[in-house]
Amino acid sequence: MDQSTGMDYDPATYWTTSAKNFRSSARLHLQHFLCQRTFGYLLESHVQDFVSHSQDERSGPLRVADLGCGNGAWLCDLHDELAKSGITAQLDGYDVNAASFPAPAFLPPSIRLKELDILKPLPEDLVGVFDIVHIRAFASLLVDTGVAPLLPFIHAMLRPGGYVQWEEIRGDKFIVEASGDTPGVACNTISQILQAGGKARGSDFTFIDQLDQGIKSHGGFDDVQKRVFEKRRQDYKAWTEDILMVWGEIAVHFPLKADASSAKITKESFLDLYRRAVEETEQGVAVHQGVIVTAVGRKAA
Ligand SMILES: C[S@@+](CC[C@H](N)C(=O)[O-])C[C@H]1O[C@@H](n2cnc3c(N)ncnc32)[C@H](O)[C@@H]1O
Repeated sequence: MDQSTGMDYDPATYWTTSAKNFRSSARLHLQHFLCQRTFGYLLESHVQDFVSHSQDERSGPLRVADLGCGNGAWLCDLHDELAKSGITAQLDGYDVNAASFPAPAFLPPSIRLKELDILKPLPEDLVGVFDIVHIRAFASLLVDTGVAPLLPFIHAMLRPGGYVQWEEIRGDKFIVEASGDTPGVACNTISQILQAGGKARGSDFTFIDQLDQGIKSHGGFDDVQKRVFEKRRQDYKAWTEDILMVWGEIAVHFPLKADASSAKITKESFLDLYRRAVEETEQGVAVHQGVIVTAVGRKAA
């Protein structure tokens, strides 16, 4: 528990608790659609060029891995896009928690989703076989370390010449946009509580701003590029709804007043604040995180 807020949130176990259910998956679906609207693509242009130009050289299907794939929404959309272009692919999603996976019967045959802890040593059969490794929204697991622990695995999974495509949002940053006479006091207070909790735990999301530098400093990648995408104003309402869902899930991490009467923030006081934050958003206040950062890099041949 962190002393400044009384929260018992732990990013390392957050995704494996039984509380991860259809609500988490629904939120990830919304986040996926919003990311796609923001980027306007599934494969970044360097990666797309690589897919198009390497088509004749490939002897088998294009192999794509999605790490921390959640409900597989990105892979499902990629399947449709590749199929339209006549590209045969094998799309493999890996996640430590299979709770959000759709039933295999509802997935195209080219998509396989498997339970795997990608922070543990890599199974041999995943070494050197992928043309593309995609990872998105994994930063909360890397706030103590930056990208360093994951890059050796990503590098090992890729074939020489293959691409990593990595997308992240600063999960510690909430920009509250006032609406008319409603400044968004409760939204700002929640934002400050969560920032204080993150600081108390020593969480550092700033590596996202230098995602390309993290990949470069690992070595073994060429043509590393970063792109920064501003969220669209017309999507602010939907991003706000996505963030309200996260804030709603966080309430369970505060102690009940009866168990911790001296805690600065209790579950009851947080839920009261949350109710007021929701009211503010109903008055038009928006909460978002500004930008999405993407980095791509090519495994040296
Ligand atoms: C914020 S969600 C992002 C899901 C998906 N990439 C997306 O953008 O919709 C993070 C995902 O990482 C998964 N995850 C957390 N720790 C993991 C680990 N050690 N190995 C594999 N997946 C993990 C979670 O279960 C969750 O599905």
